[in-house]
Amino acid sequence: MNFTDRVILITGASDGIGKRLALDLAARGAVIIGCGRSVERLKAVLAELQRISPRSITIRCDVGSREEVRAMVAKALAAYDAIDILINNAGIGMRQPFAQMSVDTIEEVMRTNYFGAVYCTREVVPGMIARGRGHVVNISSVAGHIGTLNMAAYCASKFAINGFSESLYHELKPLGIDVSLVCPGPVRTSFNRTFAQTSPKSPTSLVISAESVSQTVIRAIEKKRFHVITPPSVALMCALKRFMPGLFRTIAHRLFRPHVLPEKNP
Ligand SMILES: NC(=O)c1ccc[n+]([C@@H]2O[C@H](COP(=O)([O-])OP(=O)(O)OC[C@H]3O[C@@H](n4cnc5c(N)ncnc54)[C@H](OP(=O)(O)O)[C@@H]3O)[C@@H](O)[C@H]2O)c1
Repeated sequence: MNFTDRVILITGASDGIGKRLALDLAARGAVIIGCGRSVERLKAVLAELQRISPRSITIRCDVGSREEVRAMVAKALAAYDAIDILINNAGIGMRQPFAQMSVDTIEEVMRTNYFGAVYCTREVVPGMIARGRGHVVNISSVAGHIGTLNMAAYCASKFAINGFSESLYHELKPLGIDVSLVCPGPVRTSFNRTFAQTSPKSPTSLVISAESVSQTVIRAIEKKRFHVITPPSVALMCALKRFMPGLFRTIAHRLFRPHVLPEKNP
């Protein structure tokens, strides 16, 4: 696929995977509309972006707010005629035993990770349908396939994105719009800065770079692949769970059990 002059809206483009994707796609000639909440971080990314793609812009937007998403998409469509590709990447993580999680936190995770993608897709897809082309990419996670202890809210938000993506695929493919669902294992970004010390930690052998995820996403768009799990070792774990769910649950339970902290539960 030729990305030259393609208009690509990337949510969560101010850091981590989204920032890497913005720079890599801009380097291939795309025009990027990047969003995030931190104006400072967006400014820094815009300076880097405009060196390679002068028409790219950033817009401050909290994807968990329907009004802000509506305003962002209106602003994007005022600047460019159409959005060719939407990458729903913005996300927050958290790791805490469910019994200690506040309901506010659970709602915030769902609002950002799931409803954020829903709001953006709802605003962008009608234009794609009208033109009979487009591509929606949802950045999910291995946590959308495997429920992990202390990550109930996060896993629920990513399982939701997976179901959402599969339904969208069937609805949109006949209308000329592609859908991709990319599920990385642990990635080296500042994503887990607030809970880096809580267990269980991701085995270092499974951790991949934002560069690697960015290349995987670009390949998924180029090849119009619906579902990609990366790295292959994590894809293998998901396959084991799918084909031998009982065995997988027994192994996972043994691995997770030492990390349960009963004294902290009420
Ligand atoms: N890192 C991992 O281990 C990992 C593994 C699998 C999947 N993922 C998924 O990959 C995606 C990107 O994660 P990352 O590792 O790149 O994280 P990151 O480095 O923390 O970056 C997250 C990005 O999302 C933005 N963001 C967060 N909440 C937002 C909101 N309400 N509205 C708009 N933007 C928001 C952040 O910008 P502001 O803070 O400025 O808003 C930032 O640009 C997420 O969906 C995550 O679930 C990550």
